Amino acid sequence: METTAFSKPHPGKPVLGIETSCDETGVALLRWEPRSPGRGLLSHTLYSQIKLHAEYGGVVPELASRDHVRKLLPLVREALAEAGLAPSDLGGVAYTAGPGLVGALLVGASAARAMAWALGVPAIGVHHMEGHLLAPLLEDDPPEPPFVALLVSGGHSMLVEVKGIGEYRILGDTLDDAAGEAFDKTAKLMGLPYPGGPALARLAEQGRPGAFRFSRPMTDRPGLDFSFSGLKTQVLLAWQQSDQGEQTRADIARAFEEAIVDTLVIKCRRALQASGARRLVIAGGVGANQRLRAALAAAGEKDGFKAYFPRLAFCTDNGAMIALAGAIRLAHGQHQDASVQVFPRWDLESLPPAT
Ligand code: KG4
Ligand code: ZN
Repeated sequence: METTAFSKPHPGKPVLGIETSCDETGVALLRWEPRSPGRGLLSHTLYSQIKLHAEYGGVVPELASRDHVRKLLPLVREALAEAGLAPSDLGGVAYTAGPGLVGALLVGASAARAMAWALGVPAIGVHHMEGHLLAPLLEDDPPEPPFVALLVSGGHSMLVEVKGIGEYRILGDTLDDAAGEAFDKTAKLMGLPYPGGPALARLAEQGRPGAFRFSRPMTDRPGLDFSFSGLKTQVLLAWQQSDQGEQTRADIARAFEEAIVDTLVIKCRRALQASGARRLVIAGGVGANQRLRAALAAAGEKDGFKAYFPRLAFCTDNGAMIALAGAIRLAHGQHQDASVQVFPRWDLESLPPAT
């Protein structure tokens, strides 16, 4: 995406962040505070469409777009009221421009562009995954680049070397299903309701260790790419050949979660070794998984790296991470021309550095 220099310095006013790439409408207000970005977070609101899509067993794009239309402006009003601000107090507007569902993205992009135009402030389209990978900066003791980021969401499983903000090199990517997608599909095939990830993780707590064992895909060879679709097939076979009882379902859930977590931990350790970084950032919806968080924290103690996690609400999609990524870029004089453009597919490495 082309960026143009912002003609006047960013005034340090609050930035409105809008997230509508999938099935959550997220809105936040954030004033850019370089040393402690979390302190600049003035308010954040979220509406999840989970109930709307549950009866279909997955996100229905058209329904998602229509619901963003209904919820976005009320959420913007709510976020402003919570922060005690008026629209005229805003210094810029940031919105998710991709990757994501095109109709859903267009709702956020059109609203954001219209508001920025009406208020005479700059607007910037944010890369959804950059939002995720910067989310740990909203916590106390934010990580300083360089670091390695593990991005694990419904659409992505990536290991990214972060030299600075906007300086990203993809070390490993998914060859088929993303980690969150694997959680969701596996949950579905064992009859759990959408969204399966959190439901499967809850069920895994009741599972007995060692009752089942699945392979750790692609860990027996060098490289940092992921492949989770074979694991899903292993679960399908185990499930079909089992008694399909409650305890068995929990046992399989546990073995599946352990296989994913182990695989992610092995690849993270390799990525840290390869890059020489001593900090690991975990982001995206699967970053909410407690077994993964505990395993990475333990690996860090053993290997001498520090693991940084966003709070649970900022692992999954939210407006705060978009406000943050947008505020950083606006503060560095970046914004785009006033046109509504979205990028359903968008290469993270193509972003310009924020320097
Ligand atoms: O980042 P996110 O909210 O949306 C995308 O950008 O995809 O991630 C959603 C994904 C879903 O696949 C969901 O099942 C998964 O994150 N997820 C989890 C957990 N919480 C959310 N997976 C495993 N354990 C969890 N606790
Ligand atoms: Zn996401």
